[in-house]
Amino acid sequence: MSAVPQELLDDVPRKADEAPPPRHVAVIMDGNGRWAASRFLPRVAGHREGARALRRTIDAAMRNGVEWLTIYAFSSENWRRPAGEVMDLTGLLRHYLKNEIAELRTNGVRLRFIGDRDRFDADIRDDLVVAEQTTAMNSRLNLTVALSYGARDEIAAAARTLAERVRAGTLDPASIDEAMLASALWTRDIPDPDLVIRTSGEQRLSNFLLWQAAYAELVFLDVLWPDFGPSHFAAALAEYARRERRFGARPD
Ligand code: IPE
Ligand code: IPE
Ligand code: MG
Repeated sequence: MSAVPQELLDDVPRKADEAPPPRHVAVIMDGNGRWAASRFLPRVAGHREGARALRRTIDAAMRNGVEWLTIYAFSSENWRRPAGEVMDLTGLLRHYLKNEIAELRTNGVRLRFIGDRDRFDADIRDDLVVAEQTTAMNSRLNLTVALSYGARDEIAAAARTLAERVRAGTLDPASIDEAMLASALWTRDIPDPDLVIRTSGEQRLSNFLLWQAAYAELVFLDVLWPDFGPSHFAAALAEYARRERRFGARPD
């Protein structure tokens, strides 16, 4: 009997020319500040331009047959930035929620948000719910926006949820396994990412999807996020196609 589950062996090895596109791409959109600084502009100009790059990316994902796109827009640690920058970023978020959701809805995009929404003002929290509800019937692209998101926060919250169930007597600790913990995460309805792209040349995850990206392919690009476009997206997919995913098994 094989020690490796058949569904994993089916994936190994995979040649570049027969690789399907990644089903789920996650993007760490980094480098807005440096983009602005290099043009002697305020950081907010970089964030504004970054929103344009996001529109291009959503478009590129749909055209490339990607079903799930998750973007890191604001981390739990980003609250530590100067108050003025946090205000600029929440202001842009407000603007985006008021002005862009209708177009996303028309284009078949389903929106979800992951992160600690309680830290946002009530009007933003309301708009997040409306955006999710009014796009819930869509299925062309599942767009998840990580806002006030931290993977360690998320895992701690999942541990609290399960611990409460144990205390209530409805859960036996011995039955907690990977699947159960995954089902307590904010991403419970979302498949794991196949590919994580980070722009700006930094090579770290910065507390993004630490559990979910256990076997994701990581692609780090030197482009700053506001300059990111369809050719960079295509280059990341091509790099993904060259990778051999093994999931710990052994290729023949
Ligand atoms: C990414 O760009 C946007 C957010 C983190 C909100 P940065 O603002 O981190 O830009 P750099 O990394 O300072 O260039
Ligand atoms: C990660 O970028 C968060 C987002 C892109 C939203 P940061 O710029 O905050 O990460 P560090 O501080 O360089 O690790
Ligand atoms: Mg940064």
